[in-house]
Amino acid sequence: MAKVGVLVGSLRKESFSKKLAANVASLFPQGYEVEFVEIGNLALYNQDFDDEHNVPAEYTAFRNTMKDIEAVLFVTPEYNRSIPAVLKNALDIGSRPYGASVWNGKPAAIISQSPGRLSGYGANHHLRQPLVFLNMPILQQPEAYIGNVAEVLDEAGKIKDEGMVKSLQAFVNAFVDLIHKHQV
Ligand code: FNR
Repeated sequence: MAKVGVLVGSLRKESFSKKLAANVASLFPQGYEVEFVEIGNLALYNQDFDDEHNVPAEYTAFRNTMKDIEAVLFVTPEYNRSIPAVLKNALDIGSRPYGASVWNGKPAAIISQSPGRLSGYGANHHLRQPLVFLNMPILQQPEAYIGNVAEVLDEAGKIKDEGMVKSLQAFVNAFVDLIHKHQV
């Protein structure tokens, strides 16, 4: 059983990113367990917390959860042409203490979305920068930019368009191939 962690870059209750992520989670094949990882409870990263006597309990819980996860799917909106702070905070916390990063070597895939037409392109590409440094092999193709997201989802939060479901299935299949390549 391979475990995929989903990190959502929005804490909003009715978040489009969360709804999209739930749709995509259902597209993984048998043998994959998809877990939504809580990042909204993490205090802002402070390097003083690297001191082993000073680690917030939620940091430890998050790092332990991530250690069991083999691959990470990021689903995020764009905030001011970049990634939301909550996502960067989680990346920073998981990267420390130095030498004990929870990200190292884990395949990653990115879906960005926006209610407008730009589809979170800026966030999608800004997110790639820290992931490269964190040594995460990133799914290159296909890419997933979801624009006009409010029209994409129905009232129950399901993707309406069969074509989009097919595209996202191809995205998930390519991610699964990438995960296989990196399994030891
Ligand atoms: C936004 N939004 C936004 N949209 C966009 O396409 N480009 C951007 O740079 C920004 N910047 C931005 C900053 C901040 C602080 C907020 C709160 C919002 C709009 C954003 O895409 C929209 O609110 C999405 O619905 C947020 O995603 P969730 O919460 O629905 O997942």
